[in-house]
Amino acid sequence: MNFFLDTANLNEIKKYAEMGIVDGITTNPSLIAKESVSLEKRIKEIAEVIDGPISAEVIATDFENMVKEGRRNASWHKNVYVKLPMTPDGLRACKVLTAEGIYTNITLVFSLSQAVMAAKAGATLVSPFVGRLDDISENGMQLIEDIRTVFDNYDFKTKILAASIRHPMHVTEAMKIGADIATMPASVFDQLFKHPLTDIGIKKFLDDWEKVKSIQ
Ligand code: G3P
Repeated sequence: MNFFLDTANLNEIKKYAEMGIVDGITTNPSLIAKESVSLEKRIKEIAEVIDGPISAEVIATDFENMVKEGRRNASWHKNVYVKLPMTPDGLRACKVLTAEGIYTNITLVFSLSQAVMAAKAGATLVSPFVGRLDDISENGMQLIEDIRTVFDNYDFKTKILAASIRHPMHVTEAMKIGADIATMPASVFDQLFKHPLTDIGIKKFLDDWEKVKSIQ
């Protein structure tokens, strides 16, 4: 199970990378916009910190320009995964870029049929958005389970990247189902570490130690 950080914030990336728990990075136009930085500059900076997949999304929505942007993004670093929207043009671009040996990530996937289309187009990764489905009273995690079943049934090689993760239960459920990757914001990483009994245990050890400190 790979854990990706869903952010374009370099300080966050460095912080969690130092703990050895970040396998890759996903960015999207909204996350880059928050940083007020050029996509190229930030992707190159991230690549200096993380030795793993880094998703860089195209902005174009038409086939020709998606392919052009995809080739450009991929030229920035060998670990760039070109993120393409789940549209007919996005799938066409995915097929072309895949044939050129470029890694791809089909994003904004909200149904099983969309995930299968992405796999058939040769996507390296498919990104179903769990949280945004939950937001509209659909079951995001059920979609992860359905994609896992169908990809296994037909031996699709496309990896399942559970995206739009909102809390630690999304991550633990995704792991149990067998998603290949979960991408999450830093706040969810923090929640994964946290357990009140760990904090209570540390406090108790330190309090007890205080009592015998003078004889050490
Ligand atoms: O990177 C795509 C995805 O993880 C976005 O999540 O929280 O904006 O739905 P969210």
